Amino acid sequence: MTGSAGHVELREPVDSDLDIIFPMTQDPVANQMSMVYPRSREAFEEQWNARTGDSASVVRTILLDGEIVGRINSFVKDDETHVGYLIAQAHWGKGVMTSALSRFVELIELRPLIAHAAKSNIGSCRVLEKCGFVKIDECDSPETERYMACIESKYRLD
Ligand SMILES: CC(C)(COP(=O)(O)OP(=O)(O)OC[C@H]1O[C@@H](n2cnc3c(N)ncnc32)[C@H](O)[C@@H]1OP(=O)(O)O)[C@@H](O)C(=O)NCCC(=O)NCCS
Repeated sequence: MTGSAGHVELREPVDSDLDIIFPMTQDPVANQMSMVYPRSREAFEEQWNARTGDSASVVRTILLDGEIVGRINSFVKDDETHVGYLIAQAHWGKGVMTSALSRFVELIELRPLIAHAAKSNIGSCRVLEKCGFVKIDECDSPETERYMACIESKYRLD
């Protein structure tokens, strides 16, 4: 798929992707946007291995003109299939995630798909809406080891 940014592709992850994607997860600006506290390298690897080795999860590396620029994945939590995603800050605002999520929801036939985003994360909420997700709930989300306290919006794609 070619957006304003260039050619966006999803491919199956390989182990060496981890070294490129992990630093993206340490970006303080990205973490403030998504209201998460960064994982240690060890915790990140553990989750990466669990997700890539789990038949109920789908993980894809996002390429822009052949360069690794992010990742997108599904995972099952509380009997619901959720999606999560991340693009490196250098490539924000180019339409990459809109292209990537559009492709990903074609790949994942399972419905409904659920996504959570901080209400303040305007970019993520907009990406979800552009890909057909509908906001179904909003609630106060408390601080945890992984998440900052925020107003959280819940989206669903049927
Ligand atoms: C949120 C994120 C995925 C958006 O990815 P992206 O590739 O920059 O998004 P796109 O370029 O496809 O933009 C889609 C829409 O969102 C808007 N948008 C993107 N970032 C925005 C921002 N920071 N503020 C306001 N609008 C924004 C774009 O203008 C576009 O809307 P439009 O078509 O109406 O103009 C990216 O910023 C990111 O990875 N952030 C850090 C991690 C994160 O927040 N993950 C999601 C957790 S729920």
